[in-house]
Amino acid sequence: MKQEIDWCNLGFHYTEPEYIVRAAYHNGVWEEPYATKDKFLHLHVSATCLQYGQEAFEGLKAFRGVDGKIRLFRWLENAKRMQRSAEGLYMQPVPTELFGKAIRLALSKNLDLVPPYGTGATLYFRPLLIGTTPRLGVGPGRDFEFIVIPSPIGPYYPGKFHCTTFIVNRHVDRAAPLGTGQFKVGGNYAASFRATEAAHAQGYDCLFLDAKQHKFIDECSAANFIGIKGNEYLTPRSTAILPSITNDSLMKLAKERGMKVTRRHIRLEELEQMSEAAACGTACVISPIDKVLDPERNKSYHFGNEPGPVLTELYHALKDIQYGRAKDKHHWCEIVDLP
Ligand code: PLP
Ligand code: COI
Repeated sequence: MKQEIDWCNLGFHYTEPEYIVRAAYHNGVWEEPYATKDKFLHLHVSATCLQYGQEAFEGLKAFRGVDGKIRLFRWLENAKRMQRSAEGLYMQPVPTELFGKAIRLALSKNLDLVPPYGTGATLYFRPLLIGTTPRLGVGPGRDFEFIVIPSPIGPYYPGKFHCTTFIVNRHVDRAAPLGTGQFKVGGNYAASFRATEAAHAQGYDCLFLDAKQHKFIDECSAANFIGIKGNEYLTPRSTAILPSITNDSLMKLAKERGMKVTRRHIRLEELEQMSEAAACGTACVISPIDKVLDPERNKSYHFGNEPGPVLTELYHALKDIQYGRAKDKHHWCEIVDLP
């Protein structure tokens, strides 16, 4: 039965898709991905994903363009990042071709869930890789399952292009400098919940500093940080943060607009010299920051209550490419040919 979906009021929440896609890896071989209506796993209680956190995931979107065509945005980068995450947790990487096939199958089986153009909603795909070998002894498994879960979503932050306030936390580290922060693995998110939930309880989002010295900006909750200083686009260099595909795209767009793009350690106090700041990621694209609070140092950094001009331009430039309103010079979008 078709679901009635209020496309314009979807938040970043799960809507049950009709089909998900699955493919298992056993005895050194990946099976062909297949679509199924069954959303439950018959998983051994001692599977390595449950016992030792052998799990990685991804997040990417399909957009219904102004021309009615469906565009998948930079899925190859998500496939590569999931391969790095798999290697980081000693899992079997999902081959690029299988990843692409599974995404296209999930899309073609759930075409009704691609939101119409103009609603602000998109079809989000959550690829997931889990270790399924039963193990009690500490160590990696040999069997894996790759799953793609599609779900239509609205903007991550409600409101059109709205500002967020961050609070600095020096009591919980999200990821160690040489740990798993650079991989998209569930453990990083569970590790951040104490800090993010404490921030939410006060009405803020959490700004993570580098875990070694608590001097440099690492990440904005589950998003990369961007700061604008004069004509410079600044973003942190850190081995503990996720290499964001959105940030990479925005850096290229900033360079094209003649900006200097710098990735380096950014001291928290440098926020004072920035005219604009934002969090960026697939879910929100850009979420401008109005204020960063550092209660322990009795300091706050202000960027105005309205999104600044540089980040606003970059936000629209990226969205125009994703929705087919601007030329896709970088070949970031794959137009999916569907019957
Ligand atoms: N940092 C973290 C921890 C994330 O979970 C995400 C989301 O995927 C990002 C940054 C942004 O990455 P991307 O732009 O590839 O979505
Ligand atoms: C993003 O996609 O931007 C994220 O922050 C990922 C999160 C929803 C898990």
